This record gives sequence, C-alpha cells and structure tokens, in this order.
Amino acid sequence: MCGIVGYVGPLAPSNRPLQVTLEGLARLEYRGYDSAGVALVTPDGLTSAKKAGKLANLREELAERPLPDATVAIGHTRWATHGAPTDANAHPHLSADGRLAVIHNGIIENFQALKAELDGTAFTSETDTEVVAHLLGRAYEETGDLTAAMLAVTPRLEGAYTLLAVHADEPATVVGARRNSPLVIGLGDGENFLGSDVAAFISHTKEALEMGQDQVVTITADDVRVVDADGNPAEGRRFTVDWDASAAVKGGFPTFMAKEIHDQPKAVADTLLGRTDGHGNLILDELRIDESILRSVDKIIVVACGTAAYAGHVAKYAIEHWCRIPVEVELAHEFRYRDPVVSEKTLVVAISQSGETMDTIMAVRHAREQGAKVLAVVNTHGSTIPRESDAVLYTHAGPEVAVASTKAFLAQITACYLLGLYLAQLRGNKYPDEVAGYLDELAQMPAKIQQVIDNEDQIREVARAMKDTTSVLFLGRHVGYPVALEGALKLKELAYIHAEGFAAGELKHGPIALVEEGQAVFFIVPTPRRPLLHNKVISNIQEVRARGARTLVIAEEGDDAVNEFAEVIFRVPRTPTLMMPLVTVVPLQIFACELAGAKGLDVDQPRNLAKSVTVE
Ligand code: G6P
Repeated sequence: MCGIVGYVGPLAPSNRPLQVTLEGLARLEYRGYDSAGVALVTPDGLTSAKKAGKLANLREELAERPLPDATVAIGHTRWATHGAPTDANAHPHLSADGRLAVIHNGIIENFQALKAELDGTAFTSETDTEVVAHLLGRAYEETGDLTAAMLAVTPRLEGAYTLLAVHADEPATVVGARRNSPLVIGLGDGENFLGSDVAAFISHTKEALEMGQDQVVTITADDVRVVDADGNPAEGRRFTVDWDASAAVKGGFPTFMAKEIHDQPKAVADTLLGRTDGHGNLILDELRIDESILRSVDKIIVVACGTAAYAGHVAKYAIEHWCRIPVEVELAHEFRYRDPVVSEKTLVVAISQSGETMDTIMAVRHAREQGAKVLAVVNTHGSTIPRESDAVLYTHAGPEVAVASTKAFLAQITACYLLGLYLAQLRGNKYPDEVAGYLDELAQMPAKIQQVIDNEDQIREVARAMKDTTSVLFLGRHVGYPVALEGALKLKELAYIHAEGFAAGELKHGPIALVEEGQAVFFIVPTPRRPLLHNKVISNIQEVRARGARTLVIAEEGDDAVNEFAEVIFRVPRTPTLMMPLVTVVPLQIFACELAGAKGLDVDQPRNLAKSVTVE
C-alpha cells in the first residue's frame, strides 16, 4: 500500500520539489511507514536518498547529506510486501545505469519470471519493484522517451501497481501509470502533482484529475497528458477536493486519532448534510441503477474489511428492520472465494473509508461479474471503489489519517442508515413521516456524540489506570454486538492487548471460561426502554461479576439497574436503540487511544498495520 508523491515545477532548479514531496509524504505516511525515499532530477543528473523506518529517519539523512536543488521529484513511503523494511529495499529503485528512478505501490505478481529474463543484471534489493526499474531502464535506452518506456513496460506487468518514474535526461517530466492501485493528478499553476490520494498535494491545489485503469500520465510544469495503454489520448475526470489542508493536521491534539475522535460530531453532521431534495425525498450522490431494479432487490450483501465491516454489521440491524430485505455482512476477502449466491436482484454494498482496499475492490468486481448491482459507501473521492460501482453514497468524514478508523466508522453507519431509509422510502416500507422521524433522530446524534466526548476525562483516567492490563473482553447484544467487536479491535490494534468481542448471549457457550478474578470485561448495555434486551445484558453482567471480573459498563443516563454490578460506568445520552452505536463506541475509542498512549505506543501508526491495505 505505500504512499506516492510526484512533483514537477519550473525549470529553474530549487528546493521546492523536495519540500513539496516530503510534505506530501508526511500526509501519506498513514499508507505505510516502513521506509521512505526520494529521487530528484537536478542539473547534474539523478540523485536519490532512502532510509528504513519512518519519514523522520529520511529527514535526518537529508539534513546530514543535503540533496542539490532540482526541477522534479518523486517520493515514496513504504509498507513492505516483498523484502524486509531495510534501506536497500526502500524505494526509489534505480535502473542499472543509475539514470532512471522508479517508485511503486502494489505487487508485481510475475516479478520472478521477469527477473529471470534480466539475467546478468545486478540486483541490489529483494523487491519486485527493482525489476521494473531495470525494465524501464532498458526500454528507455531503446525509446529515449520516458512515456514511451512506461507504455512499453506496463503491459508486461501482472498484478497491481502505481508507478512513478523520472529520468536524468528528462528534467521537466514525471511519468506515472496505474493498474488496481490509486493515482490522482493535482493540477497546479505552473506546477503539477501526482499522489496516491489528494492529501499528497492538498496544501497546493484542490483541483484534481482521476486516472482510469491502465492509463499512463506525463506531467510537466504546464501540461498534463493522459493516455490509455495503447498511447491514445484519454480523458480523466476532473473534481475539486471539498476539504482543505487544515483538515489533515492534528489541530492541537497530541495524535491524529485524538483529533479524529473529536471530529466525529462534525463527521456525522456533514454526512447528513444536503441529503433531501426539495420535496423531502432522500437522494444518493451518484445513482447509475434504475430505481425499478432497486425496488426489486431481494437481498443485500455488505462487503467490507476491518472497521468498515463492523459498520456494515451495525447497518444490517437497521436496514432489515426498515426495509424488510435480508442483509448479509461478509468480509470482502471471504466473499469472493466462497461462491456466494448473487443474482441481478442482489444489491452489494461495499463500505470503505479509503475506497482502495484491494480485498473490497476484488469483491466489488466479483459481484458485478455475477450480475449484482454495487453501491459504494466511501469516504475518499477519486478512489477506485466508487469509480467501479453502480451507485455511490459518500461519507463526509474528511480525511482520516490515524490508522485506526474512528470518524469514518461513525460516518459509515450514518451513511448506511441513510441508504436504509432511502430504500425504505423507495420501496414504500416506510411512510415519509416515518423516514423524517428517523432523520430527526440522526440529526440529534452529533450533539449526543459531543456529550460523550465531553466526558472523556473519566474514560481517559480509567484507561491510564489499566495500562498494565493484558486481556480485555467486550460484550454486547443486538447493535451492541458489532460495537463490542469494534471496541476489541481498537484495543488490539492500538495497545497490542489481547482483546475479544463477543455477543453477550454467547458468553455462556464458551467465553465465560476465560473469566477469572480481575478479568476486565466491557459491557455495551442497551437502553432500558428495550427491557427484553436490557434485562439479558444485566444478567450477563451479574454472571461475570459473580466470577470476580472487573466490569466496565457503557449505559444510558438514568439506567440505574447497572449501578450495583458495575465497577465503572461510562454514561451515554438517552438514545433510540438503533442509534446507540453512534454513541456507545466513542468511550471505547477514547479508552483504546488513551491506554495505548499511556503505554508509550505510537497511536497513529501502530506496528505492522497500514491504513489502506492495497494488497490482497
Ligand atoms: C485497514 C485499516 C482499518 C480499516 C480497514 C478497511 O485494515 O487498518 O482501520 O478499517 O483497512 O479500510 P477501508 O479503507 O476499506 O475502510
């Protein structure tokens, strides 16, 4: 998954290409942070630097050994796939003559076969990418043109790639290509940019161009030329980014995650904005599906990974209840390989913050091949999943930088609820006043989420006191069940603590064996206005309490039934059952964030993870 930046500026050499590239890399570090590197074209030729570890290591290296002024630059931050995260395996990789540099995001699946062809070439790394550097170097010798070299080499590559290349003899050009990996073009004034996503250049321009599959782009300071795989001119889709650079900085918070937790009321409010037409009817952002087809849908399958899948899990409860359509939730990587029953009447809903998760992209493609319609719920404009789907509902969470997803989760639930209400309206399952009633409930959620955040000191204090805990269980029922799963995931990924989420009813069927004196157990308690559910969870709390567990309970204000059995109570405002996940997950996010911080861990960039997983 890796982050990629490219820059071309005026012909007078300066340090701007390097500065723009490093700044872009800093914004893309969420995509991977195993190593970082840059290549520049200067009046004296090509020069490069690369370093294992986070971008800070590369910056140190550049401070000790500064690079000369340049006209173009490319930069890379890596999430290792082929070869360990070492200096040698860091990108850029150079051609044999050292005059061409390439950076790569993705996996070249046939790299072994290609490497065999390059017999006699000395390789300096274990990466698949270096093969491309040598192939491009050879193609350049034959063509004397970087774009022509790229067009000659890319058809030979199998797998996924975004490639950027520069050459010592082309001091005014960066060439890029993409297949199954993202690349966006930033349109500047007398300068142009390339990036894995718009964050790479957002502080310089908001005007951007999407690149299609198998296209090759050549940027100079004043020109952007996109061609298809045969070299014929191709059109990119132009768009304006609707957030600015200030949205992608920490804004006074110690970590991006803390900031993004605080962004949540706005993320939900923005996702709800402008969703009705003049007559109060709900509308989607992009709809390329005939409404009659949506009326005949007889099954919904949600495909997603990680936190996005838990958002789908929450949505299932609401959509089934409102629309009376069966909803399955499937991890995207399992969906494709189990021969799912999919027909023209199946609506597949793909949920993804990045829009670039490879497992989800492959599930989308598989679904469409089977004749299903695909609706995307995605946060990132210009990304692959919305481009390949039949309809899109964008979440307006703004850029999410911390690897552990928070505000995107809440925005995904909100967007899925809008989808549920849209379908209910379209299919006549709910009267307009009923839909309006649910929209009202949703509209009240930002203020309620804010109330939970305002109480964060209590949660943070408890988290710090528990920093030596080695195991935590999370239990919930109904919509509280996926919240329990998400709470456990947050703690695993951030604090490296063994954590498990279970459906509370399942406790007695196994997990209760884990409970011993002092075992920490979180409970997500439903509103007492659903006594059937509520009473069962209260019984579950008693069961673990009786066995010596420490009980940490998330319960509605005024729910006194929990008082007797809870060691700690985190209160959330009175909220209708289906809306509860939007508030009950917040204490769990704050808890994991604070506990990881107290352990001295890197909250925004946990070990082994990356935000956008663009490999299968
Ligand atoms: C990675 C991230 C998770 C995220 C998941 C799905 O595993 O670490 O935080 O939930 O990918 O990402 P997506 O961009 O598709 O929502």
